[in-house]
Amino acid sequence: MSGLFITMEGTDGSGKTTQIKLLSDYLEKAGYDVVCTREPGGTKIGEKIRNILIDAENKNMNDITEMFLYSAARAQLVKEVIIPKMNGGGIVISDRFVDSSIVYQGIAREIGEKEVKSVNKYAVGNLLPDITFLLELDFEKGIERKRQQSKLDRIEGENLYFHKKVFYGYKKIASKNSQRIKVIDASLSENEIHKIIVENVNSLINGRSF
Ligand SMILES: Nc1ncnc2c1ncn2[C@@H]1O[C@H](COP(=O)(O)OP(=O)(O)O)[C@@H](O)[C@H]1O
Ligand SMILES: [Mg+2]
Repeated sequence: MSGLFITMEGTDGSGKTTQIKLLSDYLEKAGYDVVCTREPGGTKIGEKIRNILIDAENKNMNDITEMFLYSAARAQLVKEVIIPKMNGGGIVISDRFVDSSIVYQGIAREIGEKEVKSVNKYAVGNLLPDITFLLELDFEKGIERKRQQSKLDRIEGENLYFHKKVFYGYKKIASKNSQRIKVIDASLSENEIHKIIVENVNSLINGRSF
């Protein structure tokens, strides 16, 4: 595959959507063929799965059901959007990917990292992001940002202990994958964060003569 696959990770409210917009505008202006996608969702089928997942009324959803629904939406996204775009030499920027499942379902829901990874193998095969940005923000600050933005969805509305486990889960997988996952202090300004992301993406592009 000749394209580039970038993912944005971080707790709710850490600024993923904001940074994806800035990065895709930058890369499009530089002449690249870019597609942005979000998880869960990013396809017609995936968006239907997303609605089930985020519906605040689905309070009694089983953790295993949740894990499979995320992987199901991801399988569709990989086949329908990511692989074709990469094969065409484009750049894919995804708002969350497998790392999110490892952290939210594997660590925070305590299903197990290994278990979640093995289920996700069916969804993604050997596909791995070329680079992942982890926007690290104190989980209470993130939820506060979200609360100001809109009503909290099912996952955002989880208790602080859950969000704390997510925060430390991200730290853990970032240290295990330090080559691929770049940790950025998300309390910096939007522009400062954007500059750091652009520097990293450009050095990746130059290094691969992409
Ligand atoms: N660096 C930043 N500093 C302060 N506020 C920010 C920053 N980045 C984003 N925000 C604000 O925080 C809120 C959540 O940002 P968003 O990009 O939607 O986060 P996410 O997609 O990670 O949930 C938005 O209201 C956004 O304007
Ligand atoms: Mg977002």
